[in-house]
Amino acid sequence: MAQKSKKLIVGNWKMNGTQEFARDLAADLAEKWYVTPSDHQIVICPPFPYLSITLNRLFGTEIACGAQDCSIQEKGAYTGEVSAFMLKDIGCNFVIVGHSERRQYHHVTSELVRQKAEIAFKADLIPIICIGETLSDREGQRTLEILEEQLKESMPLSDQDFTIAYEPVWAIGTGKTATSKEVLEVHAFIRSWLQKNRKKAADTPILYGGSVNEQNAKEILSLENVDGVLVGGASLKAESFWQIIQSA
Ligand code: PGA
Repeated sequence: MAQKSKKLIVGNWKMNGTQEFARDLAADLAEKWYVTPSDHQIVICPPFPYLSITLNRLFGTEIACGAQDCSIQEKGAYTGEVSAFMLKDIGCNFVIVGHSERRQYHHVTSELVRQKAEIAFKADLIPIICIGETLSDREGQRTLEILEEQLKESMPLSDQDFTIAYEPVWAIGTGKTATSKEVLEVHAFIRSWLQKNRKKAADTPILYGGSVNEQNAKEILSLENVDGVLVGGASLKAESFWQIIQSA
């Protein structure tokens, strides 16, 4: 399959920063965009309280914003939850669902991930659906089996636009990236699963995530079936994140 020339580069700030940090980082990114605009699709996912300030600073650029999670409910008595419709209302276009940190620490199951993706569609957001195996899955040669299970259970049934992020759990925040061979194998597997099970298989971007930085981004982004990257730690510095974008 031909490589898509337009990549999707997503920055996940996780639970980091202060209001001032978010404002400054977003302002730095906006400035970089004006000096060296990019044709790639760039998405920033700050913590909920800093979404508006980030959106404000990015106004006028083509950098989009997303949230790091959303509720499975539309509205109502669900204390502590944030609705996909609220995210759309303030100007978000994307939402990450099923990140392994949500699956691991907040008991988010694949079934819930699917429901979050479905409600994101209703709110007109593009869900970035994360899947990935743990170290023990990989060591036990169960990687593809686990990923297939996650695909079957977490992918929305409706045929709308979504993005998949393959993030091996053992590569997140560890400085250990999957090898090119490992990424190629998994991304080809995901693409062929999509071809068998979804109509828009060729158009569904498949991102890689896990210790992506300015040194390894170029190689990862050149691999077949890698349509972009989901960047955690390295997205907290404007310079590093912009270098990743420019290596695409
Ligand atoms: P990392 O995080 O780049 O810091 O490994 C990636 C992610 O969790 O999305």
